[in-house]
Amino acid sequence: MSRHFQHDVLVIGSGAAGLSLALTLPSHLRIAVLSKGDLANGSTFWAQGGVAAVLDNADTVQSHVEDTLNAGGGLCNEAAVRFTVEHSREAIQWLIDLGVPFTRDDHSTVEDGGFEFHLTREGGHSHRRIIHAADATGAAIFRTLLAQARTRPNIELLEQRVAIDLITERRLGLEGERCLGAYVLDRSTGEVDTHSARFTILASGGAAKVYLYTSNPDGACGDGIAMAWRSGCRVGNLEFNQFHPTCLYHPQAKSFLVTEALRGEGAYLKLPNGDRFMERFDPRAELAPRDIVARAIDHEMKRLGIDCVYLDISHKPADFVKTHFPTVYERCLTFGIDITRQAIPVVPAAHYTCGGVLVDQHGRTDVPGLYAIGETSFTGLHGANRMASNSLLECFVYARSAANDIMTQLPDIAQPRDLPSWDASQVTDSDEDVIIAHNWDELRRFMWDYVGIVRTNKRLQRAQHRVRLLLDEIDEFYSNYKVSRDLIELRNLAQVAELMIACAMARKESRGLHYTLDYPDMLPEALDTILAPPTYCG
Ligand code: FAD
Ligand code: SIN
Repeated sequence: MSRHFQHDVLVIGSGAAGLSLALTLPSHLRIAVLSKGDLANGSTFWAQGGVAAVLDNADTVQSHVEDTLNAGGGLCNEAAVRFTVEHSREAIQWLIDLGVPFTRDDHSTVEDGGFEFHLTREGGHSHRRIIHAADATGAAIFRTLLAQARTRPNIELLEQRVAIDLITERRLGLEGERCLGAYVLDRSTGEVDTHSARFTILASGGAAKVYLYTSNPDGACGDGIAMAWRSGCRVGNLEFNQFHPTCLYHPQAKSFLVTEALRGEGAYLKLPNGDRFMERFDPRAELAPRDIVARAIDHEMKRLGIDCVYLDISHKPADFVKTHFPTVYERCLTFGIDITRQAIPVVPAAHYTCGGVLVDQHGRTDVPGLYAIGETSFTGLHGANRMASNSLLECFVYARSAANDIMTQLPDIAQPRDLPSWDASQVTDSDEDVIIAHNWDELRRFMWDYVGIVRTNKRLQRAQHRVRLLLDEIDEFYSNYKVSRDLIELRNLAQVAELMIACAMARKESRGLHYTLDYPDMLPEALDTILAPPTYCG
């Protein structure tokens, strides 16, 4: 039997963004936080490097803003950048107060104006400003936020719940545009429940799973972007897919990232013959922004016909390496690579979705009552290329801003309503799940081949043709068979792929992460790519 639930705030996603929002809201509100797998399902748990923030007395807001604008290829929204960076110190203080065990700096003293926590460096940053918990920052933050959420009786943590679609007044044929909640598959019962809420938050992460090779966990399917699009929200800048330069290249190593902080602490990128090559591409060498480093690696791999390049930190003292990078050290050792003595084989892989659901400074989308925060959103912070460790920062700053905005609106918003149940009267059990598995593989492969690090008009046209065929097939399947997690994700992934291709085709230049052989130059004017759905609510 499907069930009906009522909440003040329904948060779809239990990562850094979703949990931070739930913890910032006051304790008299009934809040539900959903995760489609276990609660640690998102990218947050896997974050390694850290969180960028202006923390050292010698650093400045202006310097962090300028670095972000430079990395973003002229496309960042300066107001969004300034807003985020200006709130960075208070966001970190909030995490420290909650108890996140950031790595301390043994050498810093109050007298020298230093900060008591260790700050590392990553690409594009002109200053040491990445606060971290060794090389497992995401796990440390996630565990602290989750432990706090578990002490709050008003926060209900619901695992194995897959949001399928948002419920809006328009969809129900009512007057108005407001979001009223969501239909959610409970994987333990197989039923679709109705969750009614005064405010609904998409905190559902990115879409890097659209590519065959990715650093992301399995759930990064762009569900929030697809749901928002279907309910009338604009999306933007989805052509900017960030490829992380250094993921471990090993047949048994699925999705293992080798943090950029290794390069921040002096690791070199090398060819199989031991030569360094980054200086040929950028004066900042290994610490150039990610788009430049990933493209340089891709170029060298294609030029030399090699399967990977190498990341080498073996010239640093072994104790230093083991203390700063225990996760990378242990993980590589399981594959027989001792990083204190050997170089690590690495390749670029899809890592981060810079675009997403268009929002304002409070995370408000085009649909009233619906917010988007974290990687699923498009705030304007990242422009054409996200600078390392600005993503977690964005999660905290916008989660807190959205929570404050909800509080100001709350008195005017009615209690959650009774909503109609999900209609499953026309569907049956599928007897052809092979179609889902086949389409998953096909989609991720052509996105990798045709919409990857280097693009052309022809490749994009091919991808567009194929994704349209897939969407038709998936729609037919979706109308006839009961929903499952795989089907919901495939439907969303194909939708987001179509939007990514549309954004890429609209950009007639190369900028930041979007590089096309047909338009290799950057146009003088930097414009966002904004797509509006036929049902646009504006
Ligand atoms: P996520 O943490 O991805 O959480 C998404 C949540 O939404 C999950 O709970 C998931 O179950 C849920 N969800 C999704 N769809 C549905 C649905 N349909 N129904 C119900 N629930 C759903 N950034 C940095 O700033 N610094 C770093 O050092 C860093 N390192 C990284 C390392 C790796 C390996 C990866 C993959 C990313 C890294 N990033 C880093 C990026 C950063 O981790 C993410 O951008 C950030 O954690 C996203 O947080 P989020 O809360 O938006 O989403
Ligand atoms: C990393 O540790 O290299 C990832 C940092 C990020 O994605 O911001």
